Amino acid sequence: MNALVDQGLLTVFFTLSAVVIGASSPHASEGEEAYQRCVVCHQPDGAGIPGIFPALKNRFADIMASVEGREYFTMVLIDGLIGTIEIEGQRYVGAMPAQYLTDAQISALIDYLATNFGASDAADSNLLLSEDEVAQIRSKFSSANAQSTLDLRTRVPALNGQ
Ligand code: HEC
Repeated sequence: MNALVDQGLLTVFFTLSAVVIGASSPHASEGEEAYQRCVVCHQPDGAGIPGIFPALKNRFADIMASVEGREYFTMVLIDGLIGTIEIEGQRYVGAMPAQYLTDAQISALIDYLATNFGASDAADSNLLLSEDEVAQIRSKFSSANAQSTLDLRTRVPALNGQ
């Protein structure tokens, strides 16, 4: 076989692999896509901007470690958050707009954050929420709003006293 044909076959092979790999993980790419909505504020690396946009990196796993934290995180995305919060001595007097994500998008986004911004134990499946779990939280707090999300925050063990 001549070299040109070899090269052609290789190209076909890699193109097909890329399609297969891409297709095998729609959940992961959905999560990455959903995170693009957050980057303008929380930054691509999740470090935020101190005093303006809270960091998600290295804080995500702590928040998600409790039932209350998983409820709070989900409701921040669904309803947004208005009010003054304090994180490591920094005050944030901000407002986060509701994100209008579907249950599937929220589940995928949490997966993405656990992989990219979690602590060393990010693989811990306790951090993750299935689409059904997101739906349950959404209906449990259906009368919540951006102000009452702040009340949910006070129930999160990892955020108490911060
Ligand atoms: C327009 C800017 C903006 C966008 C877009 C945004 N956020 Fe926020 N986010 C904020 C601000 C500001 C706060 C703090 C609000 C406050 O001070 O009450 C916040 C707070 C949070 C908190 C609470 C942190 C804590 O310690 O209590 C989480 C979690 C969060 N955002 C996640 C996200 C995720 C995930 C996305 C993308 C789906 C996102 N945000 C999109 C601005 C934004």
